[in-house]
Amino acid sequence: MKIVLLGPPGAGKGTQGVRLSKTQMIPQISTGDMLRKAVSDGTALGKEVQSIIRDGKLVPDELIVSIIEERIAQEDCREGFILDGFPRTIEQAKALERVMPESVDVTVYLNVPAGEVIERLSGRLTCRECGAVYPKQDISVCPACSGALYQREDDQRSTIEHRINVYMEHTAPLVEFYRERNKLVEIDGLGEPDEVSDRIEAGISEVMSQ
Ligand code: AP5
Repeated sequence: MKIVLLGPPGAGKGTQGVRLSKTQMIPQISTGDMLRKAVSDGTALGKEVQSIIRDGKLVPDELIVSIIEERIAQEDCREGFILDGFPRTIEQAKALERVMPESVDVTVYLNVPAGEVIERLSGRLTCRECGAVYPKQDISVCPACSGALYQREDDQRSTIEHRINVYMEHTAPLVEFYRERNKLVEIDGLGEPDEVSDRIEAGISEVMSQ
């Protein structure tokens, strides 16, 4: 099963990707997490992308495509994977079709309005150790691993608005790209995370039974 999670920043791709990874028993591949790890490890890649991520811009297509190509060739992806944050441009989607001719099975589009994503991201806390995310609440350590929680640099209000604009210009056209290929399931991303998970599982089953 090869699944793409699509949706604006803060739609819940990471939250739902972790859950889907458990139910489908395939790895979640988050390009955002991979890039942030490269930054915190101080690698050459991290140095190259640090300011791009901080400013809410997109990392160049060729770079991110080569990272994904290498990752999905690994052994743990043989039974499938969940792509969270990739593809993000039509060029990336076409590159994915070139490196993976059998194509994705389903693209889950999490539809959440801009006002809600601004609200969610302004309050989001992220764990420095395990990357888990939490809505704004009165905690300072991660309940899962006791790592320190922090606010992502790109979760500042002005950067969030820029990320939404970047999404609208470069990523939103992928909704039609996958709809035309009959691979799209559109999910209302509002409501409790459990409700959204149930909708996603039902939507995936429907597409797979066609
Ligand atoms: P990335 O990390 O992928 O950022 P993003 O797409 O902006 O997505 P987010 O992680 O911000 O949000 P999400 O949809 O995962 O929501 P979450 O589950 O956390 O990318 C970061 C940067 O890396 C990019 O800006 C770019 O620079 C670069 N990059 C990455 N991939 C790239 C690519 N392919 N090409 C080029 N550049 C790339 O949820 C958000 C909050 O809401 C959390 O607090 C959560 O607890 C809460 N929440 C979740 N679900 C619900 C719910 N149902 N109700 C209420 N709250 C909820």
